[in-house]
Amino acid sequence: ARAAGIKEFIFVTSRGKSALEDYFDNAPELEKNLRQKGKTDVLEILRATDVESGGIAYIRQKKALGLGHAVACAHRLIANEPFAVLLPDDVVAADKPCLQQMVEAWEETRGNMVGVMQVDDDQISSYGVLDVKDDMNRLVSARGLVEKPSLADAPSRLAVIGRYILTPRVLRDLRNTQPGVGGEIQLTDAINQSAIEEDNVYGYRFEGKRYDCGSKAGFLEATVDFALKRPELGDQFARFIRLTAGRLGADELKSAGLKTATLKSTGS
Ligand code: G1P
Repeated sequence: ARAAGIKEFIFVTSRGKSALEDYFDNAPELEKNLRQKGKTDVLEILRATDVESGGIAYIRQKKALGLGHAVACAHRLIANEPFAVLLPDDVVAADKPCLQQMVEAWEETRGNMVGVMQVDDDQISSYGVLDVKDDMNRLVSARGLVEKPSLADAPSRLAVIGRYILTPRVLRDLRNTQPGVGGEIQLTDAINQSAIEEDNVYGYRFEGKRYDCGSKAGFLEATVDFALKRPELGDQFARFIRLTAGRLGADELKSAGLKTATLKSTGS
């Protein structure tokens, strides 16, 4: 979000998550300790998460009534300007951060923009899905959006991921949006209203790899991929992965009644 030029942050949070607030606050004891030990490199990492006082607000959503409701909880703070929404369980690894790519594209389109990616048939009912009007490659205009459709009802295979740039109108509409799929107030439904009435909703095919960290498997994949990219960890971790994969491969062959040596001679 910072790379995209955003200066004010609102976390919509809930009971039991106050560690989040502390994470972005000063840590004077830790900093003193690091300074004393001369660990300036670690101090630098800490500074990178520093946000000026007043730059972060935390709002509590008291009941889990849906993503749309969570966003609407922040309406007094957002007031009357365009805003971005990031769902932090969607992690995107990209050379240029996903939201930054979107902000640059949004400068041309304005209106509402959602990050999108192609998903397989068996995944489509887990997402908000675009009804595509005009496909302009990276940019897609939408006739509408459907939240978690069945495969038969899905208007495309273009799924919304957790990156949005939205107009204040969506925020206003959210406050009158009735519960939708799953009995929850859906952000998708409020955006759909703008697509229908204002024809100003665009999907943006971002560059990068998205991890669904809301699922255990996705969380693990992200952990492994990010660890492999860390200069101080990558080599050692890659060795571990190779050994583990080799062992799993041997187990697989054994359970298929094959001998590793037989396959090795074929080069597999
Ligand atoms: C939410 C949105 C959905 C979107 C998805 C992306 O669903 O409601 O439209 O496609 O995030 O991760 P959730 O994953 O919270 O069920």
